[in-house]
Amino acid sequence: MQIKIVGISGSLRKASYNRMLLQACAELAPDGMTIDVHTIEGVPLFNEDDEPSGDSEAVARLKAAIARADGLLVVTPEYNGSVPGVLKNTVDWLSRSSGGTTVLKGKPAGIVGTSPGILGTVRAQAHLRAALEHNAAPVMPVPQVFVGGAREKFDAEGRLVDEKTRMFLAKYLEAFAEWVRRNGVTP
Ligand code: FNR
Repeated sequence: MQIKIVGISGSLRKASYNRMLLQACAELAPDGMTIDVHTIEGVPLFNEDDEPSGDSEAVARLKAAIARADGLLVVTPEYNGSVPGVLKNTVDWLSRSSGGTTVLKGKPAGIVGTSPGILGTVRAQAHLRAALEHNAAPVMPVPQVFVGGAREKFDAEGRLVDEKTRMFLAKYLEAFAEWVRRNGVTP
């Protein structure tokens, strides 16, 4: 069975290392799994007052893509020891129901992330995991990927050039494909 994954990055920055890491994930996905890169650009600030008028185009598009997909891969930066606001804001939108259910419920998920520091988003990933699990998304517990030292691991064209990281990421993605197969429900 071919597994389809929606991948999003939690950085809006053009030269984002996490955007580059997501691209690397898409390239290193094992046979049988494809990762479609989606964007959180255009997702408005969440305000419950706006909900009666329905989802914005950006939110509706993302929800529909995730609903159709077998799994979700989130690539997160770390801001102030936690999840960047734009990404948490997106999770808040995704947590809201359409037709009585949410797109996150039961959706197998994976988290990776990179930062220039040595901890490589360990704290952001823990917080993001809590938010996704709060929505009953089964998040793969192990292996985990924390890519520290981002400045040295990508080249000027945005390619992940660190061989060890590429190998580890490929292994992570193989495990993730297995996780999605075992935990997924046919959408
Ligand atoms: C950061 N950065 C950062 N890094 C980290 O490892 N832990 C942290 O707590 C923070 N905090 C933080 C707060 C704010 C407001 C900014 C702008 C940055 C640095 C961050 O990892 C770095 O800017 C990354 O390059 C951001 O990810 P992208 O945009 O390259 O994907």
